[in-house]
Amino acid sequence: MRATVRKYTSEPVSDTLLDNLLEQASHTQTMGNLQLYSVVVTRDEAMKERLAPAHFSQPMVTGAPVVLTFCADFRRTTDWALNRHGHPGYNNILSFHNAMTDALLFCQRFCDLAEADGLGVCFLGTTIYNPQLIIEALHLPLLTFPVATITVGWPDETPAPSDRLPLEAIVHRETYVPYSAERIDAFYSHKESLPENQRFVEINEKETLAQVYTDVRYTAEANEAISITLDEAIRRQGFQGDFSLGKRNPRPESLECDIVRFQNKKDRWVAFVGLLNGRPYEIFTGILDDDEGIMIPKSVSSGHILRRVLKDGSRRYDFQFMNKRGYKITIEGLSERFNPEYWNYAKLISGILRYGMPLENVIALISSLQLDSDNMNTWVSGVSKALKRYVYTVSSETEDTQNAQNVETIDD
Ligand SMILES: Cc1cc2nc3c(=O)[nH]c(=O)nc-3n(C[C@H](O)[C@H](O)[C@H](O)COP(=O)(O)O)c2cc1C
Repeated sequence: MRATVRKYTSEPVSDTLLDNLLEQASHTQTMGNLQLYSVVVTRDEAMKERLAPAHFSQPMVTGAPVVLTFCADFRRTTDWALNRHGHPGYNNILSFHNAMTDALLFCQRFCDLAEADGLGVCFLGTTIYNPQLIIEALHLPLLTFPVATITVGWPDETPAPSDRLPLEAIVHRETYVPYSAERIDAFYSHKESLPENQRFVEINEKETLAQVYTDVRYTAEANEAISITLDEAIRRQGFQGDFSLGKRNPRPESLECDIVRFQNKKDRWVAFVGLLNGRPYEIFTGILDDDEGIMIPKSVSSGHILRRVLKDGSRRYDFQFMNKRGYKITIEGLSERFNPEYWNYAKLISGILRYGMPLENVIALISSLQLDSDNMNTWVSGVSKALKRYVYTVSSETEDTQNAQNVETIDD
Protein backbone atom coordinates (compact mmCIF):
# COMPACT_ATOMS: atom_id res chain seq x y z
CA MET A 1 0.00 0.00 0.00
CA ARG A 2 1.33 3.46 -0.82
CA ALA A 3 2.11 6.24 1.64
CA THR A 4 3.43 9.78 1.41
CA VAL A 5 7.22 9.93 1.79
CA ARG A 6 8.70 13.08 3.32
CA LYS A 7 12.33 12.03 3.89
CA TYR A 8 14.68 11.20 1.03
CA THR A 9 18.17 9.73 0.69
CA SER A 10 20.89 11.73 -1.02
CA GLU A 11 20.79 9.41 -4.04
CA PRO A 12 20.02 11.51 -7.12
CA VAL A 13 16.98 11.04 -9.32
CA SER A 14 18.36 10.98 -12.86
CA ASP A 15 17.06 13.22 -15.62
CA THR A 16 16.47 10.12 -17.72
CA LEU A 17 14.21 8.54 -15.11
CA LEU A 18 12.39 11.80 -14.40
CA ASP A 19 11.82 12.57 -18.07
CA ASN A 20 10.65 9.03 -18.69
CA LEU A 21 8.08 9.27 -15.87
CA LEU A 22 6.88 12.69 -17.04
CA GLU A 23 6.59 11.45 -20.60
CA GLN A 24 4.51 8.45 -19.53
CA ALA A 25 2.38 10.69 -17.29
CA SER A 26 1.67 13.00 -20.22
CA HIS A 27 -0.48 10.22 -21.70
CA THR A 28 -3.08 10.80 -18.99
CA GLN A 29 -6.47 12.13 -20.09
CA THR A 30 -6.62 15.83 -20.96
CA MET A 31 -9.28 18.27 -22.17
CA GLY A 32 -9.56 18.23 -25.95
CA ASN A 33 -6.11 16.61 -25.99
CA LEU A 34 -4.74 20.09 -25.40
CA GLN A 35 -2.52 19.23 -22.39
CA LEU A 36 -3.39 22.37 -20.47
CA TYR A 37 -0.46 22.04 -18.09
CA SER A 38 3.25 22.40 -17.73
CA VAL A 39 5.71 21.45 -15.01
CA VAL A 40 8.72 23.31 -13.67
CA VAL A 41 11.55 21.06 -12.46
CA THR A 42 13.62 22.47 -9.61
CA ARG A 43 16.96 20.86 -8.78
CA ASP A 44 19.00 23.95 -7.97
CA GLU A 45 19.51 24.35 -4.20
CA ALA A 46 19.19 28.14 -4.33
CA MET A 47 15.87 27.83 -6.17
CA LYS A 48 14.60 25.34 -3.58
CA GLU A 49 15.57 27.82 -0.84
CA ARG A 50 13.58 30.44 -2.73
CA LEU A 51 10.52 28.22 -3.03
CA ALA A 52 10.62 26.95 0.56
CA PRO A 53 8.93 29.96 2.24
CA ALA A 54 5.95 29.57 -0.11
CA HIS A 55 5.53 26.12 1.45
CA PHE A 56 5.89 27.41 5.00
CA SER A 57 9.45 26.06 4.98
CA GLN A 58 8.33 22.44 5.09
CA PRO A 59 11.65 20.53 5.12
CA MET A 60 10.82 18.36 2.08
CA VAL A 61 11.32 21.32 -0.28
CA THR A 62 15.01 21.71 0.47
CA GLY A 63 15.41 18.04 1.49
CA ALA A 64 14.25 16.45 -1.77
CA PRO A 65 16.54 16.07 -4.79
CA VAL A 66 13.73 17.19 -7.10
CA VAL A 67 10.83 19.59 -6.61
CA LEU A 68 8.15 19.67 -9.29
CA THR A 69 5.68 22.53 -9.64
CA PHE A 70 2.71 21.50 -11.75
CA CYS A 71 1.01 24.45 -13.42
CA ALA A 72 -2.35 24.99 -15.05
CA ASP A 73 -1.28 26.39 -18.41
CA PHE A 74 -3.47 28.00 -21.04
CA ARG A 75 -0.60 30.20 -22.15
CA ARG A 76 1.00 27.74 -24.56
CA THR A 77 -2.34 26.87 -26.17
CA THR A 78 -3.19 30.58 -26.47
CA ASP A 79 0.16 31.32 -28.09
CA TRP A 80 -0.34 28.43 -30.48
CA ALA A 81 -3.78 29.69 -31.44
CA LEU A 82 -2.53 33.25 -31.95
CA ASN A 83 0.28 32.04 -34.18
CA ARG A 84 -2.27 30.12 -36.26
CA HIS A 85 -4.85 32.91 -36.66
CA GLY A 86 -7.11 31.41 -34.01
CA HIS A 87 -9.20 33.48 -31.58
CA PRO A 88 -8.35 32.22 -28.10
CA GLY A 89 -10.73 33.15 -25.29
CA TYR A 90 -9.16 31.52 -22.27
CA ASN A 91 -8.72 34.43 -19.86
CA ASN A 92 -11.69 33.33 -17.77
CA ILE A 93 -12.50 31.21 -14.77
CA LEU A 94 -13.81 28.23 -16.75
CA SER A 95 -10.50 27.96 -18.57
CA PHE A 96 -8.68 28.23 -15.26
CA HIS A 97 -10.66 25.24 -13.94
CA ASN A 98 -10.09 23.21 -17.09
CA ALA A 99 -6.35 23.83 -16.98
CA MET A 100 -6.24 23.10 -13.25
CA THR A 101 -8.04 19.78 -13.81
CA ASP A 102 -5.58 18.84 -16.54
CA ALA A 103 -2.58 19.78 -14.40
CA LEU A 104 -3.81 17.78 -11.42
CA LEU A 105 -4.53 14.70 -13.52
CA PHE A 106 -1.03 14.90 -15.01
CA CYS A 107 0.43 15.37 -11.55
CA GLN A 108 -1.46 12.39 -10.07
CA ARG A 109 -0.45 10.15 -12.95
CA PHE A 110 3.17 11.15 -12.41
CA CYS A 111 2.88 10.34 -8.68
CA ASP A 112 1.42 6.88 -9.42
CA LEU A 113 4.18 6.08 -11.89
CA ALA A 114 6.94 7.43 -9.63
CA GLU A 115 5.67 5.41 -6.66
CA ALA A 116 5.42 2.29 -8.82
CA ASP A 117 9.14 2.77 -9.63
CA GLY A 118 10.00 2.93 -5.91
CA LEU A 119 10.34 6.71 -5.61
CA GLY A 120 8.78 8.57 -2.69
CA VAL A 121 6.63 11.64 -3.27
CA CYS A 122 4.89 14.26 -1.16
CA PHE A 123 2.08 16.50 -2.46
CA LEU A 124 2.34 20.07 -1.15
CA GLY A 125 -1.04 21.77 -1.09
CA THR A 126 0.68 24.95 0.14
CA THR A 127 1.24 25.77 -3.54
CA ILE A 128 -2.15 27.46 -3.71
CA TYR A 129 -1.71 29.15 -0.31
CA ASN A 130 1.19 31.32 -1.45
CA PRO A 131 0.92 31.25 -5.24
CA GLN A 132 2.37 34.73 -5.81
CA LEU A 133 5.74 33.78 -4.31
CA ILE A 134 5.91 30.77 -6.62
CA ILE A 135 4.75 32.73 -9.66
CA GLU A 136 7.53 35.26 -9.08
CA ALA A 137 10.24 32.70 -8.27
CA LEU A 138 9.47 30.58 -11.34
CA HIS A 139 8.65 33.51 -13.68
CA LEU A 140 5.23 32.06 -14.48
CA PRO A 141 3.61 34.15 -17.25
CA LEU A 142 -0.02 35.20 -17.62
CA LEU A 143 -2.48 32.33 -18.18
CA THR A 144 -0.40 29.94 -16.08
CA PHE A 145 -0.95 29.09 -12.42
CA PRO A 146 0.86 26.80 -9.97
CA VAL A 147 -1.60 24.18 -8.69
CA ALA A 148 0.50 21.46 -7.05
CA THR A 149 4.04 20.89 -5.89
CA ILE A 150 5.50 17.41 -5.57
CA THR A 151 8.76 16.65 -3.77
CA VAL A 152 10.44 13.57 -5.23
CA GLY A 153 13.29 11.35 -4.06
CA TRP A 154 14.36 7.88 -3.02
CA PRO A 155 12.67 7.05 0.31
CA ASP A 156 14.66 7.39 3.52
CA GLU A 157 11.69 6.28 5.64
CA THR A 158 8.99 3.61 5.43
CA PRO A 159 5.84 5.26 6.71
CA ALA A 160 2.90 3.06 7.65
CA PRO A 161 -0.09 3.51 5.35
CA SER A 162 -2.51 5.97 6.88
CA ASP A 163 -6.13 5.11 7.65
CA ARG A 164 -8.99 5.69 5.23
CA LEU A 165 -12.74 5.90 5.68
CA PRO A 166 -14.61 2.70 4.80
CA LEU A 167 -15.64 2.42 1.16
CA GLU A 168 -19.34 2.91 2.00
CA ALA A 169 -18.49 6.37 3.36
CA ILE A 170 -17.39 7.62 -0.02
CA VAL A 171 -19.50 5.61 -2.47
CA HIS A 172 -23.15 6.35 -3.23
CA ARG A 173 -25.00 3.83 -5.32
CA GLU A 174 -27.37 5.34 -7.90
CA THR A 175 -28.25 8.37 -5.75
CA TYR A 176 -26.53 10.34 -3.02
CA VAL A 177 -27.41 9.08 0.48
CA PRO A 178 -27.35 11.80 3.18
CA TYR A 179 -25.04 11.30 6.14
CA SER A 180 -27.23 10.70 9.17
CA ALA A 181 -25.68 11.01 12.63
CA GLU A 182 -25.55 7.21 12.86
CA ARG A 183 -23.75 6.85 9.56
CA ILE A 184 -21.25 9.56 10.56
CA ASP A 185 -20.60 7.63 13.80
CA ALA A 186 -20.09 4.41 11.88
CA PHE A 187 -17.78 5.96 9.30
CA TYR A 188 -15.59 8.08 11.61
CA SER A 189 -15.37 5.93 14.76
CA HIS A 190 -12.31 4.00 13.58
CA LYS A 191 -10.40 7.17 12.70
CA GLU A 192 -11.34 8.75 16.04
CA SER A 193 -10.22 5.69 17.99
CA LEU A 194 -6.70 5.63 16.57
CA PRO A 195 -4.13 6.39 19.31
CA GLU A 196 -2.30 8.99 17.16
CA ASN A 197 -5.55 10.87 16.58
CA GLN A 198 -6.49 10.73 20.25
CA ARG A 199 -3.07 12.19 21.06
CA PHE A 200 -3.70 14.88 18.50
CA VAL A 201 -6.92 15.88 20.30
CA GLU A 202 -5.13 15.92 23.66
CA ILE A 203 -2.16 18.00 22.52
CA ASN A 204 -4.48 20.56 20.97
CA GLU A 205 -6.67 20.62 24.10
CA LYS A 206 -9.83 19.95 22.11
CA GLU A 207 -12.77 17.63 22.73
CA THR A 208 -13.05 16.02 19.32
CA LEU A 209 -10.83 15.25 16.35
CA ALA A 210 -13.14 17.27 14.12
CA GLN A 211 -12.44 20.33 16.30
CA VAL A 212 -8.71 19.91 15.70
CA TYR A 213 -9.42 20.21 11.99
CA THR A 214 -11.93 23.07 12.16
CA ASP A 215 -10.49 25.11 15.03
CA VAL A 216 -6.77 24.55 14.66
CA ARG A 217 -5.63 23.19 11.29
CA TYR A 218 -8.03 24.56 8.70
CA THR A 219 -9.92 27.45 10.29
CA ALA A 220 -12.58 29.63 8.69
CA GLU A 221 -10.45 32.76 9.22
CA ALA A 222 -7.41 31.27 7.51
CA ASN A 223 -9.47 29.81 4.69
CA GLU A 224 -11.16 33.13 4.03
CA ALA A 225 -7.91 35.11 4.10
CA ILE A 226 -6.17 32.63 1.81
CA SER A 227 -9.18 32.60 -0.52
CA ILE A 228 -8.78 36.35 -1.06
CA THR A 229 -5.07 35.98 -1.87
CA LEU A 230 -5.80 33.03 -4.16
CA ASP A 231 -8.56 34.88 -5.97
CA GLU A 232 -6.29 37.90 -6.50
CA ALA A 233 -3.46 35.72 -7.81
CA ILE A 234 -5.77 33.91 -10.25
CA ARG A 235 -6.94 37.27 -11.61
CA ARG A 236 -3.40 38.65 -11.76
CA GLN A 237 -2.39 35.67 -13.88
CA GLY A 238 -4.98 36.76 -16.42
CA PHE A 239 -7.87 34.41 -15.63
CA GLN A 240 -9.77 37.54 -14.71
CA GLY A 241 -13.20 36.71 -15.99
CA ASP A 242 -14.94 39.83 -14.79
CA PHE A 243 -13.56 42.21 -17.39
CA SER A 244 -16.20 42.17 -20.04
CA LEU A 245 -16.52 44.70 -22.77
CA GLY A 246 -19.00 47.44 -21.98
CA LYS A 247 -19.13 46.76 -18.28
CA ARG A 248 -17.71 49.53 -16.18
CA ASN A 249 -15.38 48.29 -13.52
CA PRO A 250 -15.73 50.66 -10.55
CA ARG A 251 -12.53 52.30 -9.42
CA PRO A 252 -11.40 51.73 -5.85
CA GLU A 253 -10.01 54.83 -4.12
CA SER A 254 -6.54 53.39 -4.35
CA LEU A 255 -5.17 51.50 -7.34
CA GLU A 256 -1.94 49.56 -7.58
CA CYS A 257 0.33 51.31 -10.04
CA ASP A 258 3.36 50.33 -12.10
CA ILE A 259 5.85 52.95 -13.19
CA VAL A 260 7.21 52.50 -16.67
CA ARG A 261 10.13 54.73 -17.65
CA PHE A 262 11.34 55.03 -21.17
CA GLN A 263 13.34 57.15 -23.48
CA ASN A 264 11.90 58.62 -26.65
CA LYS A 265 14.37 60.47 -28.78
CA LYS A 266 15.99 62.91 -26.31
CA ASP A 267 13.26 62.92 -23.68
CA ARG A 268 12.87 60.77 -20.61
CA TRP A 269 9.31 59.67 -20.17
CA VAL A 270 7.26 58.13 -17.43
CA ALA A 271 3.96 56.30 -17.45
CA PHE A 272 1.90 55.69 -14.34
CA VAL A 273 -0.19 52.61 -15.13
CA GLY A 274 -3.01 52.08 -12.63
CA LEU A 275 -3.92 48.38 -12.36
CA LEU A 276 -7.16 46.72 -11.34
CA ASN A 277 -6.76 42.97 -10.87
CA GLY A 278 -3.47 43.15 -12.74
CA ARG A 279 -4.98 44.80 -15.82
CA PRO A 280 -4.35 48.43 -16.86
CA TYR A 281 -7.27 50.55 -15.69
CA GLU A 282 -5.90 54.03 -16.25
CA ILE A 283 -2.70 55.56 -17.53
CA PHE A 284 -1.00 58.90 -17.03
CA THR A 285 2.03 59.63 -19.15
CA GLY A 286 4.33 62.49 -19.85
CA ILE A 287 7.85 63.77 -19.96
CA LEU A 288 9.84 63.25 -16.80
CA ASP A 289 10.83 66.80 -16.09
CA ASP A 290 12.99 67.25 -13.03
CA ASP A 291 12.30 71.00 -12.85
CA GLU A 292 8.56 70.46 -12.78
CA GLY A 293 9.03 68.17 -9.83
CA ILE A 294 8.17 64.61 -10.79
CA MET A 295 10.94 63.44 -8.52
CA ILE A 296 10.58 59.71 -8.19
CA PRO A 297 13.65 57.84 -6.96
CA LYS A 298 14.98 55.58 -9.69
CA SER A 299 14.51 52.53 -7.49
CA VAL A 300 10.72 53.06 -7.33
CA SER A 301 8.88 50.94 -9.87
CA SER A 302 5.45 50.69 -8.30
CA GLY A 303 3.10 52.37 -5.87
CA HIS A 304 -0.52 53.43 -5.71
CA ILE A 305 -2.64 56.02 -7.51
CA LEU A 306 -5.09 57.59 -5.10
CA ARG A 307 -8.18 59.37 -6.38
CA ARG A 308 -9.41 62.16 -4.19
CA VAL A 309 -12.72 63.92 -4.70
CA LEU A 310 -12.28 67.59 -3.77
CA LYS A 311 -14.87 69.80 -2.10
CA ASP A 312 -15.95 71.33 -5.42
CA GLY A 313 -16.62 67.84 -6.82
CA SER A 314 -13.53 67.79 -9.03
CA ARG A 315 -11.11 64.88 -8.84
CA ARG A 316 -7.43 64.82 -8.15
CA TYR A 317 -5.04 61.95 -8.70
CA ASP A 318 -2.05 61.50 -6.39
CA PHE A 319 0.80 59.04 -6.65
CA GLN A 320 1.98 57.37 -3.47
CA PHE A 321 5.01 55.16 -3.01
CA MET A 322 7.05 53.69 -0.20
CA ASN A 323 10.61 54.95 0.04
CA LYS A 324 13.56 52.73 0.98
CA ARG A 325 13.11 53.54 4.66
CA GLY A 326 9.49 52.46 4.61
CA TYR A 327 7.90 55.93 4.62
CA LYS A 328 4.98 56.73 2.35
CA ILE A 329 5.68 59.64 0.01
CA THR A 330 2.82 61.25 -1.90
CA ILE A 331 3.14 63.27 -5.08
CA GLU A 332 -0.01 65.31 -5.28
CA GLY A 333 -1.93 66.29 -8.38
CA LEU A 334 -0.53 64.15 -11.17
CA SER A 335 -2.84 65.99 -13.55
CA GLU A 336 -1.13 69.30 -12.81
CA ARG A 337 2.27 67.97 -13.62
CA PHE A 338 1.79 66.91 -17.21
CA ASN A 339 1.11 68.82 -20.37
CA PRO A 340 -2.73 69.37 -20.49
CA GLU A 341 -2.86 67.88 -23.96
CA TYR A 342 -1.38 64.59 -22.75
CA TRP A 343 -3.67 64.70 -19.80
CA ASN A 344 -6.80 65.00 -21.96
CA TYR A 345 -5.77 62.10 -24.17
CA ALA A 346 -4.88 60.08 -21.08
CA LYS A 347 -8.44 60.65 -19.83
CA LEU A 348 -9.84 59.28 -23.08
CA ILE A 349 -7.59 56.23 -23.05
CA SER A 350 -8.34 55.57 -19.39
CA GLY A 351 -12.06 55.73 -20.19
CA ILE A 352 -11.62 52.97 -22.76
CA LEU A 353 -9.49 50.86 -20.42
CA ARG A 354 -12.09 51.09 -17.66
CA TYR A 355 -14.73 49.57 -19.87
CA GLY A 356 -12.56 46.56 -20.57
CA MET A 357 -11.69 46.98 -24.24
CA PRO A 358 -9.12 44.28 -25.02
CA LEU A 359 -5.64 45.75 -24.68
CA GLU A 360 -4.63 44.77 -28.21
CA ASN A 361 -7.51 46.91 -29.52
CA VAL A 362 -6.67 49.83 -27.23
CA ILE A 363 -3.09 49.78 -28.51
CA ALA A 364 -4.25 49.51 -32.12
CA LEU A 365 -6.58 52.47 -31.56
CA ILE A 366 -3.88 54.62 -29.98
CA SER A 367 -1.42 53.74 -32.72
CA SER A 368 -3.91 54.74 -35.39
CA LEU A 369 -4.44 58.25 -34.00
CA GLN A 370 -3.42 60.90 -36.52
CA LEU A 371 -1.88 63.67 -34.46
CA ASP A 372 -0.29 66.87 -35.67
CA SER A 373 2.62 67.59 -33.44
CA ASP A 374 5.79 65.58 -33.08
CA ASN A 375 5.31 65.65 -29.33
CA MET A 376 1.92 64.02 -29.57
CA ASN A 377 3.26 61.30 -31.83
CA THR A 378 5.95 60.67 -29.24
CA TRP A 379 3.18 60.43 -26.68
CA VAL A 380 1.33 57.87 -28.80
CA SER A 381 4.38 55.68 -29.03
CA GLY A 382 5.07 56.06 -25.29
CA VAL A 383 1.57 55.01 -24.29
CA SER A 384 1.60 52.05 -26.67
CA LYS A 385 4.90 50.86 -25.28
CA ALA A 386 3.72 51.22 -21.71
CA LEU A 387 0.57 49.18 -22.40
CA LYS A 388 2.17 46.48 -24.52
CA ARG A 389 3.89 44.90 -21.57
CA TYR A 390 0.47 43.85 -20.23
CA VAL A 391 -0.72 42.04 -23.34
CA TYR A 392 -0.36 38.32 -23.05
CA THR A 393 -0.20 37.50 -26.73
CA VAL A 394 3.00 36.11 -28.13
CA SER A 395 2.93 38.41 -31.10
CA SER A 396 2.92 41.55 -29.03
CA GLU A 397 5.47 40.09 -26.67
CA THR A 398 7.81 39.50 -29.55
CA GLU A 399 7.26 43.10 -30.52
CA ASP A 400 7.84 44.11 -26.93
CA THR A 401 11.17 42.40 -26.90
CA GLN A 402 12.06 44.27 -30.05
CA ASN A 403 10.88 47.53 -28.56
CA ALA A 404 12.77 46.85 -25.40
CA GLN A 405 15.98 47.13 -27.36
CA ASN A 406 15.05 50.69 -28.34
CA VAL A 407 13.76 51.63 -24.94
CA GLU A 408 16.18 52.74 -22.37
CA THR A 409 14.77 51.86 -19.01
CA ILE A 410 16.18 54.09 -16.36
CA ASP A 411 17.29 51.83 -13.58
CA ASP A 412 19.22 52.35 -10.39
C1 LIG B 1 -4.33 18.71 -1.51
C2 LIG B 1 -3.25 18.08 -0.67
C3 LIG B 1 -2.42 18.89 0.07
C4 LIG B 1 -1.40 18.32 0.82
N1 LIG B 1 -0.51 19.15 1.44
C5 LIG B 1 0.50 18.61 2.16
C6 LIG B 1 1.48 19.44 2.75
O1 LIG B 1 1.47 20.67 2.59
N2 LIG B 1 2.44 18.86 3.50
C7 LIG B 1 2.52 17.50 3.67
O2 LIG B 1 3.43 17.04 4.36
N3 LIG B 1 1.62 16.68 3.10
C8 LIG B 1 0.63 17.19 2.33
N4 LIG B 1 -0.27 16.37 1.70
C9 LIG B 1 -0.17 14.91 1.87
C10 LIG B 1 -1.24 14.45 2.86
O3 LIG B 1 -0.92 14.90 4.15
C11 LIG B 1 -1.34 12.92 2.83
O4 LIG B 1 -1.64 12.48 1.52
C12 LIG B 1 -2.43 12.44 3.77
O5 LIG B 1 -2.12 12.74 5.11
C13 LIG B 1 -2.63 10.93 3.65
O6 LIG B 1 -1.43 10.25 3.87
P1 LIG B 1 -0.81 9.26 2.79
O7 LIG B 1 -0.57 10.00 1.53
O8 LIG B 1 0.47 8.74 3.40
O9 LIG B 1 -1.82 8.15 2.57
C14 LIG B 1 -1.26 16.91 0.89
C15 LIG B 1 -2.11 16.10 0.13
C16 LIG B 1 -3.06 16.68 -0.67
C17 LIG B 1 -3.89 15.80 -1.55
